[in-house]
Amino acid sequence: EIYFNHTLYNQTPVASTNYDKLEASAKLLLTPAGYNYAAGGAGLETTVAANREAFDHWHILPRVMRSVLPSRDISTVLFNRTLPAPIVMAPVGVQTLFHSSGERATSKVFGELGLPYTLITASSTGFAGVAASNGAGNPRWYQLYWPDDDDLTRSYLQTAKANGYVVLVVTVDTWDLGWRTRDLDRGFFPFLWGVGVQIGLEDPVAHQKLGFDALAANATAEQKQNAALYHTITTLRGVSPVWENLWRLREVWGDARILLKGVQSAEDAKEALKWGLDGVILSNHGGRQIDGAIGSLDALPAIVQAVKGKLVIGFDSGIRSGIDFFKALALGADFVQLGRPILWGLAHEGEKGIRHVLKSLLAEFEITVGLAGCASLKDVNETLLVENRR
Ligand code: FNR
Repeated sequence: EIYFNHTLYNQTPVASTNYDKLEASAKLLLTPAGYNYAAGGAGLETTVAANREAFDHWHILPRVMRSVLPSRDISTVLFNRTLPAPIVMAPVGVQTLFHSSGERATSKVFGELGLPYTLITASSTGFAGVAASNGAGNPRWYQLYWPDDDDLTRSYLQTAKANGYVVLVVTVDTWDLGWRTRDLDRGFFPFLWGVGVQIGLEDPVAHQKLGFDALAANATAEQKQNAALYHTITTLRGVSPVWENLWRLREVWGDARILLKGVQSAEDAKEALKWGLDGVILSNHGGRQIDGAIGSLDALPAIVQAVKGKLVIGFDSGIRSGIDFFKALALGADFVQLGRPILWGLAHEGEKGIRHVLKSLLAEFEITVGLAGCASLKDVNETLLVENRR
């Protein structure tokens, strides 16, 4: 029985999730380094703000007197698989930074609800551990920070396949880290933290104070390798991936699906089509890479116009509520990804907080679909939105 596929009246009641309150409350539970790593963006964080403003550029124009009760169908078919909702966990690195249960908790809750879960290259829990907590038969995706070392790439992809990850998400906007001012000011780098965990330090702030040389001096070769394996140092080498090398991934991944994450230009979406990709995820990495980049939702119409129906179009950066799901899907996204809202949920007692956030966002979405006059997602389209630019 899926909780959110019922009308308001026979649901188990849950409290709402107000994003700003959720973030403020998570801030109190996290270390300053952890909080700022997640909340922060590049530069002056104007793109973090633009991601929200873009949602205000569209208003919903509901329809009435349509037969939408007793239940709104918010299921979707993605890659030949029926999903209870078009909602996917965004790849988010080093989740034990937010709660000790980290990826095990996020993957468990997405698995419970049958929603796709994306394991990241920069994970604090490995392929098999996350597969086990996600649960047999659930849709699992793998996000790759594409190393310029072919052996390492092959090893990542083969291990992902062997553990039941069926869709490959290649992040192409982060071959080098953006100018992340909050982290720079604190000297915080996730890799340092990873080495610290490996050598048994539990306090992330202490890791930063010790610095890389001291940490490295205390780590065995194996510990360093482990830290490197699931942290980004080996992959973010400042070497940009190129279209011409995609065949190297196909060689290992075969015909299984590949999505490119971090596409913002319609021209790149057309390139992706030309190069035989299965889809693109429109994302500016939550404003963490290029400060001044276009608000993510503002880039969606051009991408929809260029490749809708030919490539699967995913969307993230700025999704904070069920209303936002509605707007992105109405503009033509095939699925949307949740990033920061899930992290703030995770900070609240791990799986309990995630479950609360996810269920309340889904409930808000399901109710909105109905109140806008839609019986199913097939009815959710751009005629239900009006542009609002002042
Ligand atoms: C991310 N994101 C990310 N993306 C990716 O492809 N690989 C990664 O390892 C990470 N790591 C990561 C860490 C943290 C703390 C954040 C907040 C984000 C980007 C993520 O997938 C997604 O694009 C953004 O989170 C979307 O923005 P909002 O909606 O969370 O603001």
